Amino acid sequence: MPVVRGKIIDPLFSAEVIAERNRTMAAEIATNPKKDLLVISILKGSFIFAADLIRALHEAGLEPEVEFITLSSYGKGTTSRGVKIIKDIDSDVRGRDVLLIDDILESGRTLRFARELMFERGANNVDIAVLLDKRSRREGTLDADYVGFECPDYFVVGYGMDVAYAFRELPFVGVVKGDA
Ligand code: IMP
Ligand code: MG
Repeated sequence: MPVVRGKIIDPLFSAEVIAERNRTMAAEIATNPKKDLLVISILKGSFIFAADLIRALHEAGLEPEVEFITLSSYGKGTTSRGVKIIKDIDSDVRGRDVLLIDDILESGRTLRFARELMFERGANNVDIAVLLDKRSRREGTLDADYVGFECPDYFVVGYGMDVAYAFRELPFVGVVKGDA
């Protein structure tokens, strides 16, 4: 098993498996007609997935505009948890088809907030693409339109995802198993 920063990382989804899935997801996304498509990568966790999926969308024949939004969850209690905008997009979404890209759909708070925000701003349609779906952790109902993989309830790192700012650079998704 790979050892990174003195920790054993158990690979869950390899770089090859992810690349293949990105191609099939992009082909699936491209089957639905798009009106002035705006792809929005939700930072920071989705930056590598978004970079790969956007290039797969090009291969699938789409010509998206690409934007970035940095969102952050706050609060730990069950009543006061929310999401705030750290850095907003610059583009106007009115009348456009938006595709939100995130790394993981867990409780659904982040993506519900982002989707409602884009609809409030007048988007024509808002679809959601996530690399991983932790369905067992969902609060309320929210489904992604495109899911790379169903994810078991482990804390995963790599391929853009971090724990305490580490491991974003790994080309695969894995689980930290402890000290090497
Ligand atoms: P949600 O708002 O509960 O759906 O949380 C989703 C966000 O939490 C994702 O965009 C990730 O940034 C973060 N997250 C959830 N699970 C993990 C994980 O296993 N590893 C790294 N980040 C995670
Ligand atoms: Mg995130």
